[in-house]
Amino acid sequence: MKYLTIALAKGRLAQLAIEIFEKAGLDCSELKEKSRKLIFTDDKNKLRYIFVKAADVPTYVEYGVADIGIAGKDTLLEEGRDLYEMLDLNFGRCKMCVCGKKGSVVPSGFMRVATKYPKIAQSYFAGKKNQTIEIIKLSGSVELAPLCGLSDVIVDIVESGKTLKENDLEIMEKISDISARLIVNRVSLKMEKARITDLVEKIAKEI
Ligand code: PRP
Repeated sequence: MKYLTIALAKGRLAQLAIEIFEKAGLDCSELKEKSRKLIFTDDKNKLRYIFVKAADVPTYVEYGVADIGIAGKDTLLEEGRDLYEMLDLNFGRCKMCVCGKKGSVVPSGFMRVATKYPKIAQSYFAGKKNQTIEIIKLSGSVELAPLCGLSDVIVDIVESGKTLKENDLEIMEKISDISARLIVNRVSLKMEKARITDLVEKIAKEI
């Protein structure tokens, strides 16, 4: 029997995914050990787990290197990959928002938007609001941008709101709700339909 490969995002999302897999009856004890290993094999269930950067999970699934993946809706929206989104796992909940300095408003004309999510920001402002913007792509600490005058606003994930609060920023507009999704490669679902459906159903019961 072929091994099914599951791509997990390194970090918090992987921990929550492992919890739900265990509830669904899989033995993930090896995955929970602190290690730098990136591939784990469950010979009993013929499963292989790979740990990748969060933003790369949809890439591994689209190319079929992974049959299944757990990814945030934020990365799915940003990556726009061709795959099946099978389940909303209801964890990793947060919001994609436009944020800026406390008390300020979103400029109505041209402005600069700093973000790790250029596609989401572009489609929100250009697509939905018909507003011309300049995107400044950053890799992290996006909240710094309006504080230093690099951008007028940011488009970023807000979870607890702590980062905004501690930097005198606030939510100006909500773009969308975000949560973790179970995704499946299109060909894998056809070739391994029974095994994948069985696994998806077991996980669905634990959401
Ligand atoms: C994310 C996000 C916000 C923060 C929101 O950053 O980009 O900065 O978490 O969480 P909060 O509302 O609970 O404060 P991340 O931790 O991934 O760091 P980085 O983007 O700065 O690398």
